[in-house]
Amino acid sequence: MIALYPGSFDPITNGHINVMERASKLFDTLVVSILINQNKKSLFTLEERMEFLKGAIGHIYNIRIESFQGLLVDYAKEINAGVIVRGLRAVSDFEYEMQMALMNNALEKDVDTIFLCADGDFTFLSSSVVKEVASFGGDVSKFVPSNVKLALDKKFGR
Ligand code: PNS
Repeated sequence: MIALYPGSFDPITNGHINVMERASKLFDTLVVSILINQNKKSLFTLEERMEFLKGAIGHIYNIRIESFQGLLVDYAKEINAGVIVRGLRAVSDFEYEMQMALMNNALEKDVDTIFLCADGDFTFLSSSVVKEVASFGGDVSKFVPSNVKLALDKKFGR
């Protein structure tokens, strides 16, 4: 079974990696795919985000890194993924995630979504909060892989 873990990953955090580690144990292949979204302003380019991912998941053997544009379910069909994986942190994630999961399943009944909880240590973590802390000079080394930490330091002139 191929599982697809989609997202913006701008940039990846240790919470994302924790979800990848969990999902990779449940499925034969995990495809992590970055959405190419021309309308959404991202801090890092697609290429940078792919490099961060590649540099941080060397310990997971059944994983592939890709990118996609367009409808998620079309892409899931294209790569033969039967499952979409999403991480759930707090209740606040639930409404948005539920809406996406139901819409995706309404569009494509053969694609289901499963939600995984990252380790409790990462409940408060998001790419946005990491960017904000880093932009004001806070230390994010506990929250992101070292390649991302270096890139954030560089981006914010440290
Ligand atoms: O990390 P994010 O930004 O929360 O990920 C959101 C993502 C990429 C999963 C979502 O925006 C998406 O699937 N976009 C592709 C377009 C699409 O299929 N939209 C309908 C989903 S209901």
